Amino acid sequence: MDIRVLTSADIPHVQSTNITNLPENYFLKYYLYHALSWPQLSWVAVDVSRPKKTPYDPPKIVGYVLAKMEEEPVNGIQHGHITSLSVMRTHRRLGLADKLMRQSQRAMVEVYGAQYVSLHVRMSNIAALRLYRDTLGFAVEKVEAKYYADGEDAYSMKMDLKFLREHIEAEEEYADEGQEVGDVGKNEEKKKDGEEGKKKRKVKLGRGLGVGELVERNESKA
Ligand SMILES: CC(C)(COP(=O)(O)OP(=O)(O)OC[C@H]1O[C@@H](n2cnc3c(N)ncnc32)[C@H](O)[C@@H]1OP(=O)(O)O)[C@@H](O)C(=O)NCCC(=O)NCCS
Repeated sequence: MDIRVLTSADIPHVQSTNITNLPENYFLKYYLYHALSWPQLSWVAVDVSRPKKTPYDPPKIVGYVLAKMEEEPVNGIQHGHITSLSVMRTHRRLGLADKLMRQSQRAMVEVYGAQYVSLHVRMSNIAALRLYRDTLGFAVEKVEAKYYADGEDAYSMKMDLKFLREHIEAEEEYADEGQEVGDVGKNEEKKKDGEEGKKKRKVKLGRGLGVGELVERNESKA
């Protein structure tokens, strides 16, 4: 399974996944608006288990998360919003929705400095509620009466992303920054050689390691 960022070419396939799984559907331009405005926030799960027969075969998209940043937050706090999430019936309970949500949340924090993420869910949607509340850690903020077109109420849910921000900061602190390159790198190498030169030890190589029999000998002298 490939979990990757959504591209514009994926949109028709994501749209068909959405229509199959949810009654809340959107025009193509609304997907494009997400993909072009916040390209890091929407992700897809692609089943790559069966090889493509031709290079023109479309990717087999089995799940997606469509997400955005709130453009004009009323409280002035930068935050993300999950517009839509679904996974095909054939691929459920494999942890795909969990993974898609976490990837999107991470990008919200890393790229846009989101403080929290919000979403709406039908009060009757037990699977999604479990995922949001128990697996991911969202909390119900309020009930929005008749939020959906068919009159069903929604839970408006929210999750603080402070823990994720701290986690990312901790990761960055311990990240291997790599070595300096170019002239700076060469100078660093020289400095290191100077400091550690005394510690250099000779190590056995080739025949000394017992591989003598495997090394082709020059028999001509013998
Ligand atoms: C809700 C949905 C996206 C979950 O996708 P998924 O990939 O199957 O979810 P995951 O495998 O990542 O599940 C993670 C956790 O969520 C909870 N969960 C998921 N599906 C569940 C179900 N049917 N019943 C109870 N809990 C469920 C479980 O706690 C699960 O962890 P576990 O498998 O270790 O017990 C999927 O069922 C779906 O597409 N439903 C239709 C569309 C929809 O309702 N979208 C949400 C709109 S707000």
